[in-house]
Amino acid sequence: MTSSIDIDRYAVAGNPVAHSRSPEIHAQFAAQTGQDLTYERLLCPLDGFADSMRAFAASGGRGCNVTVPFKFEAHGLATHLSERAKLAGAVNTLSFDEQGWFGDNTDGAGLVRDIEINAGRRLAGKRVLLLGAGGASAGVLGSLIATQPAAITIANRSVDKAEALVAAHKTYAQEHGVRLAATGLDDCGEGYDFLINATSASLGGAGVPVAASVLALGALALDMMYGPAAAPFLNWAREHGAEARDGLGMLVEQAGEAFALWRGVRPDTATVLSAMRLKLSAG
Ligand code: ATR
Repeated sequence: MTSSIDIDRYAVAGNPVAHSRSPEIHAQFAAQTGQDLTYERLLCPLDGFADSMRAFAASGGRGCNVTVPFKFEAHGLATHLSERAKLAGAVNTLSFDEQGWFGDNTDGAGLVRDIEINAGRRLAGKRVLLLGAGGASAGVLGSLIATQPAAITIANRSVDKAEALVAAHKTYAQEHGVRLAATGLDDCGEGYDFLINATSASLGGAGVPVAASVLALGALALDMMYGPAAAPFLNWAREHGAEARDGLGMLVEQAGEAFALWRGVRPDTATVLSAMRLKLSAG
């Protein structure tokens, strides 16, 4: 018989964290792949993330997803980092083993998989407008560049933050033949094939911060949020003829990447995404 101490423990750490859907998603992955593990929520004090991680790792924790506001601190705590986590400057997945604490960032891969596999749209050669220059944008920019769109414009209310993101990714973009530019929200150009909203504008009740002319005919407009927070952006996108997509697919896909890293087996994310969608629409 297996005692509870022998079961590999995983968690999502954040503050707040009660809203996190990650435990449901990972429980479905575990059931689907026959993996014996537990996955819980860890509410960490704002000044106690490092202590919480040490205690969790010491008590059988094998890995942890990290969410707001600890992704930058997790980057600092990791003893070694994946290339994509280095580029992002942020970590959303920690893996604890004999070698130390490995920090990865699966957000960008999750976004790209959702766009290319779930939505069935290739990014290569296309024009992308990324709204926002905070942690959410930083986490995905490297993975977007790696798909080799023709151009990525980062538009932000504070242009200096967009410029800093461009500077941090300049060499990587050049290596991939991607034109990278930073702009304000009023002068970000027109006719993009992809519009990706990584701002937190809707949380403050603000509307979509760019003109509808940013959308090319048949554009895909994706909000990294899901549920009520994404509704204003998605409604606006549909009203202006774009295909609208929320962040639920990205959420499930980034979780799938983390699960594959931890367990060495890739779950069937499409099934879990359908189940989560049904659950959310049922309220
Ligand atoms: P996250 O980690 O979710 O990215 P963040 O680092 O606080 O959170 O970044 C929030 C992003 O949303 C920023 O790009 C912010 O713009 P500023 O850098 O100019 O602050 C953007 N944002 C928040 N509220 C906004 C609003 N009302 N209109 C436009 N952009 C907004």
